[in-house]
Amino acid sequence: SAETGIDGWLRYARLPQAATHHDILPARIIALNDSQSSPVRTAGIELQQGIDGIFGKQCGVSHGGWVAGSHESGIVLVGTLSQFESAGGNIGQLPKLEEDGFWLNINDSGTYIVGQNERGALYGTFEYLSMLAQGNMTQVSYASNPDAPIRWINQWDNLQAGGTHGSVERGYAGPSIFFANGSVKEDLTRATQYARLLASIKVNAVVVNNVNANETILTEPVMDGLARIADVFRPYGVQLGISLYFASPEALGDLDTFDPLNASVIEWWHDKTDQLYQKIPDMAGFLVKANSEGQPGPLTYNRTLADGANLFAKAVQPHGGVVMFRAFVYDSTSLNQTLDWRADRANAAVEFFDGLDGKFDDNVIIQIKYGPIDFQVREPTSPLFAHLQQTSSAIELQISQEYLGQQCHLVYLPPLWKTVLDFDLREDNQPSLVRNIISGERFGRRLGGYAGVANVGTNQTWLGSHLAMSNLYAFGRLAWDPTTDPVSMLQDWTRLTFGFDPTVLKTITDMSMESWPTYENYTGNLGIQTLTDILYAHYGPNPASQDGNPWGQWTRADSDTIGMDRTIENGTRFAGQYPPEVASRYDNIETTPDNLLLWFHHVPYTQRLKSGKTVIQHFYDAHYSGSANAQTYAPRWQELAGKIDDQRFDETLFRLKYQAGHSLVWRDAVNNFYFNLSQIPDEAGRVENH
Ligand code: GCU
Repeated sequence: SAETGIDGWLRYARLPQAATHHDILPARIIALNDSQSSPVRTAGIELQQGIDGIFGKQCGVSHGGWVAGSHESGIVLVGTLSQFESAGGNIGQLPKLEEDGFWLNINDSGTYIVGQNERGALYGTFEYLSMLAQGNMTQVSYASNPDAPIRWINQWDNLQAGGTHGSVERGYAGPSIFFANGSVKEDLTRATQYARLLASIKVNAVVVNNVNANETILTEPVMDGLARIADVFRPYGVQLGISLYFASPEALGDLDTFDPLNASVIEWWHDKTDQLYQKIPDMAGFLVKANSEGQPGPLTYNRTLADGANLFAKAVQPHGGVVMFRAFVYDSTSLNQTLDWRADRANAAVEFFDGLDGKFDDNVIIQIKYGPIDFQVREPTSPLFAHLQQTSSAIELQISQEYLGQQCHLVYLPPLWKTVLDFDLREDNQPSLVRNIISGERFGRRLGGYAGVANVGTNQTWLGSHLAMSNLYAFGRLAWDPTTDPVSMLQDWTRLTFGFDPTVLKTITDMSMESWPTYENYTGNLGIQTLTDILYAHYGPNPASQDGNPWGQWTRADSDTIGMDRTIENGTRFAGQYPPEVASRYDNIETTPDNLLLWFHHVPYTQRLKSGKTVIQHFYDAHYSGSANAQTYAPRWQELAGKIDDQRFDETLFRLKYQAGHSLVWRDAVNNFYFNLSQIPDEAGRVENH
């Protein structure tokens, strides 16, 4: 399975000169819990497999028999703080551990992995194995604690195969690993393997069904199936969450209303929730998309979004669950581009949540997409992060490359994500980095964190592309520690996935780090959004599709001008949704960075950028340079022949060749479109009338 990619970065491939390390490796594994669903037991099994795979050394696993203070070298011991203490370990010497955190100590007397809880013990184990698999045999001693408690994956899986988007909405790797024919699959092998991958990157929950949910997730057979998924997740410390359809009480035929303040509706949801928790006592909670893109919600009954969220929050509260309530709320029918210069979908989230801060129950987390529109190649940070101060929030990132080439194009996403995570909103003129808001630190919140839309499928590569897996890996790493360097985690992933050849490492690093700017160059520049077709598949170039529809991803391009005027006086006033320092920066064309110029300002094509070029010439040049760079990927990959197994070499080469061709389609489609519209010639004479 090394070649198929099914083990991802957990291949435990044999290290060069493995046998020379046998002396300093543990000879005995002690996992301090033996019960079937225990992550500590899983840790023991992983250690055994890992040490065997990486070094060819067989170790036995026992679940006790450790004599504290015996200085028995050659052991690796794993357990929780309390298990360690009961076994006679001295926890007084340990640094402070937070929930899910761990202590990793490798010294002459053995290796000690102590988790704050079982999940933490497993995380520490995977971290130790990651070191070994990368040939790192150093002695270390440190505690590692999560930056945020919410580190969730969202899967947009439908229960029923078919439909416009197949069985995983915006998924590009085949049908669901969880569902088939309206119910949970019998064979959950892939779900188990997925949980293993996710535990190794410290993800602690997965919402398994589509945010565009329907009521069938709450039928008895499906709920029983969900309990089976939770059973295979549990040994990996991964909790299960589900998306809910707001109108379920009515849709299932039980009630004739779904008004969140109606007593029978409240009772109905409490009953359903209790049933779920009876089957899945450790369920993580609910994810809710309401009143967006035609979905029903509390606004259907003139109730507030807080009334809607709190309905579920109160139901899960006694069980310790949380509600992830999505901020992606907008009305895709009311926006009129022609009649209303001030209309702007980007304004929707802050407007819908206006006045609600502090009105949400304590176990509600508002899940906010990184930008105000929808996973575009470049967006400014969502201003909503600054507005929620008495409400917990989480960022929603998309690992699935919906607008970013659908895994047919190489785009390594952490550099994009970092532009938002590291963005300083300057609330109250104080440092207010997004990552410190969602960690709970900036506004003193208990909850918060990260949701990554992964949309893996049954394809053996999980995401449909071997190289795309660096994005899933990096999501987990950033959710644990958002200050992690994008290059260093990419290189960890590369060594774990492809081994140690220095040319392989350099080529994958260079191509990946170039890939986002390259993709931006040959798609949408200067903050104009991705220019992807937005009416059908969200794939391929279609600049014309952006305008003249109620979806609100407008560019307002005409023969002389382009860009959305989002200034406060003349435009949609979106810039004014930011705290004052940021608002004035974006409101003023002089202080708006070139890469967001057309997001905030409506300008002539001849407008000069800070670079000295005109907008239109920048478009032409960027499309040529971006697609030219995409042409170099396949030949650079070809240099790796023989350094990577044939299957993964060939499958990746196929995609890179496709990308080279498709980048030319992009280049010419976009350049011709704006040339035809503006009739402004390319200074270099490449774009002309056909
Ligand atoms: C995008 C995406 C939809 C999805 C929606 C959401 O618009 O194309 O498929 O349902 O976002 O995040 O709710």
